[in-house]
Amino acid sequence: MSYFEELGLAEPILRALKSKGYDTPTPIQRESIPALMQGRDLLGIAQTGTGKTAAFSLPSLHKLAQGNVKPRPAACRMLILSPTRELAAQIAENMRFYAKNLPLSIQCIFGGVPASKQARKLVNGVDVLVATPGRLIDLVEQRALTLSNVEIFVLDEADQMMDLGFIKPLTRIANMLPKQRQSLFFSATMPKAIADLGKRFIDNPVRVEVAPQSTTAERVEQYCTHINQAEKQALLTLSLRKGIANGEIESALVFTRTKHGADRVVRHLISAGINAAAIHGNKTQAQRTRALDGFRRGAVPVLVATDIAARGIDVPGVSVVFNFEIPNVAEQYVHRIGRTARAGKGGMAISYIAPDERPYIRDIEKLTGLRLTPVPLIEDFQAQAKSLPAPAKKKTGSEYGGGRGGRPGGGGGNRGGRPGGGGGNRGRGGSGGGSGGGKSYGGGGKKKYSAKPAGGGQRQRSN
Ligand SMILES: Nc1ncnc2c1ncn2[C@@H]1O[C@H](COP(=O)(O)OP(=O)(O)OP(=O)(O)O)[C@@H](O)[C@H]1O
Ligand SMILES: [Mg+2]
Repeated sequence: MSYFEELGLAEPILRALKSKGYDTPTPIQRESIPALMQGRDLLGIAQTGTGKTAAFSLPSLHKLAQGNVKPRPAACRMLILSPTRELAAQIAENMRFYAKNLPLSIQCIFGGVPASKQARKLVNGVDVLVATPGRLIDLVEQRALTLSNVEIFVLDEADQMMDLGFIKPLTRIANMLPKQRQSLFFSATMPKAIADLGKRFIDNPVRVEVAPQSTTAERVEQYCTHINQAEKQALLTLSLRKGIANGEIESALVFTRTKHGADRVVRHLISAGINAAAIHGNKTQAQRTRALDGFRRGAVPVLVATDIAARGIDVPGVSVVFNFEIPNVAEQYVHRIGRTARAGKGGMAISYIAPDERPYIRDIEKLTGLRLTPVPLIEDFQAQAKSLPAPAKKKTGSEYGGGRGGRPGGGGGNRGGRPGGGGGNRGRGGSGGGSGGGKSYGGGGKKKYSAKPAGGGQRQRSN
């Protein structure tokens, strides 16, 4: 009897899980599934990459498959909201896999593609609808969809969905849902103020907290390099070039603060012979899809993204996440670096900290209870940086220099070289223990790489 069987999931679901190679439920799955099968509302907190998608999908599919209820025309029985189009598509794909042996229909709707085609898919009603809020509201306004039959309502990345950018559309949507429903909220982060706000949408939920909220993924090694903004590009290019050449980096995700910044990084990488693509909100949906697909397939080893790709995106085998710029919202750090070290595997995150970004890092260290391990620059960094080609599209020196101080090629950005004790970035008691039971799932923590930022060198503790 598999562990999933013990949870009482229907046989067609168990068969799908087996074909996907799932053997043992992760801690969030083990703890949420029984309560969800009983119909409870639930707030589920667990680290990135620990299977929250299946935690809300499996028991819901089990319940939807019971009886012989058919969806009503232009209605859905389960509604899952996601903050981004790519995450919505990914959730729908996961659900389709888990439901492949069940007679349930699953559709996905999001902006950036024609609404009429999506409306047609809803005519006969669907069992499961995964949506981004804007397009969902559009289709409701066009009367292509009613939400009055929703039995199960899921907010993935729930804290972001309840944050400023989404609270208005979310409130509108919640007001259209029947009072009598099951609500499921999931995230790796949940600031208390937002959790309090969430009480409007969820009824006396069971709270399953596998690890304290904002605990970073268990097996991600977290490094930082103190460097001037103007020198970050050269360091990134040199690090990627070296890591890809020696096989330590199979694929890397680079986060920038702005859309233009992402494009600029891609231009520099391409002129240095590194295949890279950008994904952000100024790209067309076709470009976004192409970039993420190429990255997923391994055809493009480096994806440069804004926070659009910070949450939920599951690309197995991302070797390293670079924070080219530090997020000013500390929770985003947890999600960004969570794109690596998923499903029990290892991974690495490197943050490039310019002097004016230090306050953000302090917030992050406070939130996560961890110290990033500083890595100094390589000794001949300046010389190597000078040898790099200019980007394909000629940019002005001031753009290369960036807006955050520092001259191009200007004097030493290495502020990491302070004497002090060594490494170890696990600081918070209990963060490891909380999910210790889950280590047996996934790929068994096989470590394929040991890349250090260019130059490697000894680790030093910042102050
Ligand atoms: N029980 C399991 N056994 C093996 N692999 C699993 C199991 N459950 C989930 N996975 C795999 O783990 C990976 C991460 O799952 P998922 O994307 O649901 O994580 P998450 O907790 O939602 O992370 P995030 O907070 O980043 O959204 C996926 O590739 C998924 O297929
Ligand atoms: Mg997720």
